[in-house]
Amino acid sequence: MDDYGKFYYCKKCGDLLEVKLDGKSFPKDLHSTRGVWKYFGLIPIWSEENIVSLDEGGTILLECKHLARIFGLGSLFVKFEGQNPTGSFKDRGMTVGVSKAKEVGFKRVICASTGNTSASLAAYSARANLECTVLIPKGKIALGKIAQAIAYGAEIIQVEGNFDDCLKMAREISEQSHEILLLNSLNPFRIEGQKTAAFEISEQLGFVPDDVILPVGNGGNISSLWKGFNEISLIYDSKTNMLPRMSGIQAEGAAPIARAFHLGKKTIEQVHDPHTEASAINIGSPVSSSKALGAIYDSGGDADYVSDKEIFAAQRLLASKEGLFVEPASAAPIAYLAKISKKDSRNDRYEQMREGAVVCIATGNGLKDPDAIMKWNDLSVSGKMKVVSADAKSLEKILFVQKN
Ligand code: F0G
Repeated sequence: MDDYGKFYYCKKCGDLLEVKLDGKSFPKDLHSTRGVWKYFGLIPIWSEENIVSLDEGGTILLECKHLARIFGLGSLFVKFEGQNPTGSFKDRGMTVGVSKAKEVGFKRVICASTGNTSASLAAYSARANLECTVLIPKGKIALGKIAQAIAYGAEIIQVEGNFDDCLKMAREISEQSHEILLLNSLNPFRIEGQKTAAFEISEQLGFVPDDVILPVGNGGNISSLWKGFNEISLIYDSKTNMLPRMSGIQAEGAAPIARAFHLGKKTIEQVHDPHTEASAINIGSPVSSSKALGAIYDSGGDADYVSDKEIFAAQRLLASKEGLFVEPASAAPIAYLAKISKKDSRNDRYEQMREGAVVCIATGNGLKDPDAIMKWNDLSVSGKMKVVSADAKSLEKILFVQKN
């Protein structure tokens, strides 16, 4: 921790700080029955009294047999993080980040956001009675997410710039001020909450999956799950620690991590004017890029990008074949599977994935961004929804006659 009780950077090497757990001190009896706080013993909060919770985590891991068949995979699962209290995986991190803010006595918190972080921080701040400010790029956030932040009572500031500008401003302000704590994913306590998704997946399956595929923006979540999988042996006392391959998928117009990986590099080149309709991952300068690339290289995973068209097709496929409606960014891993399973582009990665259990992380709920699904299906323009006069005869015509 630095002089102000903050904890982002190492004073020696300047890199982001990370919590290292001391295996000897873990209580092996797990705390609550479900969700993030089931793993209290692996989360560095000092006292249970400081926990600020909305009963987050404990989301379903759904086997997707239809999609597995379409992609030619042995087994495919989707972890639906849209079931969290504010509709995204951010709640896992915020319950821990806000609990720690309370524990060390902060009264004010801030974040930059493409939408979900702001919704989540606003909710947990409301519950903890903290003053919350969120910086969002003007005109680049899904409506549902702004509505959430408004409802939870956050101070919302729209920035005439992109997410990277917002984060730079939030970092500068929180570094200057003694009073305000930054709760973006460079806060290591966020990572400590988000890692619990790895514990849950392994418990739900009964084993560690072979592949985990995530949408990547800042790179915080893929780093979190990688940390979680590496800590699993601490829970189960297992001697051999099986680890999955971690793959990170970005949108084509905002893909610095995937591009660095394609070039075999460990550092990124910033994308100065990122653009994707999957607004949650519209990020050109990911703050956790080196950790994310580390997870991908160390695990033998992959990084790739998909076009917006592929993302929206995957969003519809997941909803229409499996009944899971996720936000556009969350469909990026499905779009990647669709891409690599095409007959003419099958490669070694695909062949590897066919053999084992593949888990895609669906990071957010589709209800957050209804505009996107309407726009990509052209619903408002050509009116693909049929209109019928209010009698059964007219309905019969549509249901039966027109089909023949
Ligand atoms: N999926 C969704 C739905 C997200 O909201 C985000 C990030 C990501 C994936 C990428 O996660 O940044 O940890 O690699 N959203 C942040 C926000 C940036 O402000 O809500 P990451």
